[in-house]
Amino acid sequence: MKPNVPLAPMTTLELGGPAEWFLDATSTEELIAGLRWAAEQGHDVSILGGGSNLVVPDEGVRGLVIRLSSRGIEVDGARVRVEAGEDWDAFVARSIDEGWAGLECLSGIPGYVGASPVQNVGAYGQDVSETIVEVGVLDPRTLQRHALRNDECAFAYRDSRFKRNPSEWIVVDVTFELRAGGAPTIRYAELQQCIGPNASLAQTRDTVIALRRRKSMVIDADDPNRRCAGSFFTNPFVTPEQASKLVADSIAEGLVQDESQVPRWIEGERVKLAAGWLIERAGFEKGMRRGHVGLSTAHALALVHHGGGTTTELLAFADAIRAGVRERFGVDLEREPRLLEPIRTA
Ligand code: EPU
Repeated sequence: MKPNVPLAPMTTLELGGPAEWFLDATSTEELIAGLRWAAEQGHDVSILGGGSNLVVPDEGVRGLVIRLSSRGIEVDGARVRVEAGEDWDAFVARSIDEGWAGLECLSGIPGYVGASPVQNVGAYGQDVSETIVEVGVLDPRTLQRHALRNDECAFAYRDSRFKRNPSEWIVVDVTFELRAGGAPTIRYAELQQCIGPNASLAQTRDTVIALRRRKSMVIDADDPNRRCAGSFFTNPFVTPEQASKLVADSIAEGLVQDESQVPRWIEGERVKLAAGWLIERAGFEKGMRRGHVGLSTAHALALVHHGGGTTTELLAFADAIRAGVRERFGVDLEREPRLLEPIRTA
């Protein structure tokens, strides 16, 4: 347990204040010891992973912040149990090397494996809910371990039981059932345009990484857009009537010439809109700056910190974008990265 540890360097946004106390837990046993210590001391507990989808408040975080860095991969055929602290993309690279299909479109995503079920990580036509069979969890109150089956995780687009109720369980490991010798999933239109239907897993991985790099969604040390948390908002869902009105208004106002220029996808009874499109058309241009923060030059959905800024500045900019999109299109955007805050342990 270390006192007063800066958290900004542990996040990709590089923003926010220190942890009052910090523990790097390299095993579930160390996590349990940390939770016991915090309970004895009467401290709050917050859980940190890879820090790539996280916003830390400027004032820092009271109590104990535990980073779960447990490592280990257990293989049984193409059924693989991975400890929460394993690097996501290293695990994906290994799966491709082994010839296991199921994660190839999720290449190049920063962060730890333990966060993948929380926000149901997804990209380029795949999400982890398709391959997760079990999530190992710890009850932060009883310190007992449990395993939840896929159908107990309430997975949905960028959503899960773990995201909706962060105090219920701490994810300690994730089991994936991959397809040995399986073909890659090439169903995302942008991916189909760049790659043939018979591409290998490795070619699919390389293409996805190239696409992500073009959008500054791969963390490169010399990319000026690198201090970000990926998509800052989720893509919003509206009713078919709202979507039709938005399309008609956009044509009437000369924003687009025809309906094919408004990106949207029918998902069940709702229509998913592209938040990046809404942000740009609401007048927030790629590369715009406001103080020390701004929008990525490569993708309007990524908010970027240019150094020397504050979380308050970033969140105020995010609020301005949300208000602008609401005013222009009547659509509410929701923040995608998590705010680091204590879970309930009692
Ligand atoms: N668009 C714009 N302007 C922009 C960006 C996008 O008009 O600045 C339009 C594009 O033209 C396209 C549509 O929006 O028609 C969708 O864009 P894109 O394919 O880049 O995907 P996205 O919906 O913006 C989502 C995920 C990404 C993921 C990609 C690819 C969410 C919140 N984001 O972005 O995930 O990589 O699809 O599958 O669902 C992340 O979550 O951090 C993330 C990067």
